[in-house]
Amino acid sequence: MKLSRRGFLVATAALTLTSCGQEAKPAQAGELLRSKAKLPAPFQVPLPIPPVKKPLRSDAKADYFRVVQRKASIEILPGLKTEVMGYDGLLPGPTFDVRSGRTTVVEQVNQLDVSTVVHLHGGHTPAPSDGWPLDMIMPTNGEHSGQHMAGDMSMGSRTYTYPNTQRAATLWYHDHTMDYTAPQVYRGLFGLHIIRDDEEDNLPLPKGDREIPLVIADRAFDADGSFLYPALPDGPGVQPAYMEGVVADVTLVNGAPWPVHEVDAVRYRFRVLNASNARRYELGFDKGPAKFVQIGSDGGLLDKPVEHKTLVIAPAERFDVIVDFSQYQPGDEVTVVNRLDSNANVLRFKIARKAVDDSSIPAKLSLYAVMPRPSGVVRREWRFRRGSDGDHRGWTINGKAFDPAVMQAQVKLDQYEIWTFVTDVHHPVHVHLAPFQVLSRGGKAKVAEFDHGWKDTVDIRPAEVVEVLVRFTAHKGKYLIHCHNLEHEDMAMMAAFETI
Ligand code: C2O
Ligand code: CU
Ligand code: CU
Repeated sequence: MKLSRRGFLVATAALTLTSCGQEAKPAQAGELLRSKAKLPAPFQVPLPIPPVKKPLRSDAKADYFRVVQRKASIEILPGLKTEVMGYDGLLPGPTFDVRSGRTTVVEQVNQLDVSTVVHLHGGHTPAPSDGWPLDMIMPTNGEHSGQHMAGDMSMGSRTYTYPNTQRAATLWYHDHTMDYTAPQVYRGLFGLHIIRDDEEDNLPLPKGDREIPLVIADRAFDADGSFLYPALPDGPGVQPAYMEGVVADVTLVNGAPWPVHEVDAVRYRFRVLNASNARRYELGFDKGPAKFVQIGSDGGLLDKPVEHKTLVIAPAERFDVIVDFSQYQPGDEVTVVNRLDSNANVLRFKIARKAVDDSSIPAKLSLYAVMPRPSGVVRREWRFRRGSDGDHRGWTINGKAFDPAVMQAQVKLDQYEIWTFVTDVHHPVHVHLAPFQVLSRGGKAKVAEFDHGWKDTVDIRPAEVVEVLVRFTAHKGKYLIHCHNLEHEDMAMMAAFETI
């Protein structure tokens, strides 16, 4: 089979490179899906900001929300309509903006014609609300054939409880339905969940409309504006050519194609999320002095700021960065490009005017501390590989395609463990329930600057070995570790573990 051969070649080439001492470089995995629609010129559409979700009511401890998952016909490409599956009919969904330690209760109503599951990515969430792939919300409208696997199913709606007992961080929520996460996220089921706390509020960082989320996702469009996605006609999975992941030719930021945003010549804070199914980006500026000063990672603030000329961001990762536009003049334009894709456009900033800036980036950001490597702890190895279980279940962890009945590990709460992730080709690895710190990558114990902070997703490059330090607390139950390339995930690259 042509593809297995190609996957194999990629892995072999990477092995050769690393073994002669060169760095494993991030690269694109996946097959390009081209739009048939007439695409707009870049930088015509203003950058949208997803609306902040308002609670129905609040009490002393919690805020209560209701979200309706529904289809909507929206204008993404100018002049064309795209049918999306969105939280409240939006793409991205509304942003939850909540306080650390205050509970968020969300009733999710499924008015679609397919089953759904909601997962809060990066959340320290009790198992019944974590979005186990079989805990489905069945549509009231749809037919449900072939649903026979055990799970805690609900009819029409389900209420999720998020205690938010964790530090300030940029989380996101998205669909996690068994076998169908990739097409359902692709059609719109994703949004931001931002947790704030006093430690972060007290910093003099840019705030208000100078704090902007940038949710990046690639999509392809058919001639009539509808989404193109290479699903197999019956059952889960994608056409064999897209087995390694679907990458598409239109870059959406906050749901708009290659948007443009006017800024003052001051500092801005950008919370960058890669919500793409499979595409990686190496974000850089086309010209001028701008760079990224990273202040936070998946799991919140770093201890101190780190400067990057470019940012490599894999699916599901978040980078919290400050960009200083004060060295530009009104009228200047600066474009963010993807260096992994011959500098393809992402979005553009137009510097509108000089303005007063009372923000700054403190040298000390938070009490976050790098954990030393403990000795004598439990170690586990997770090997991410292409398998041979057929195309629907073509990706494996420790040699097994996902089986919800099998717990690959029993993990004791409140103790540190060292987990080792080993890859063949490129896999962005994600762990539910607890964040981790990277201890080593490719045998190097000096942790690369882009690996700093509490992470919940780490990009493991071809034929690479990464060690992380992880500790689960508070919640007992079934949780997941999986590849966040969503095509790999749907084709069984998940494993269950149980916290005890
Ligand atoms: Cu963002 Cu298990 O997923
Ligand atoms: Cu997650
Ligand atoms: Cu993968």
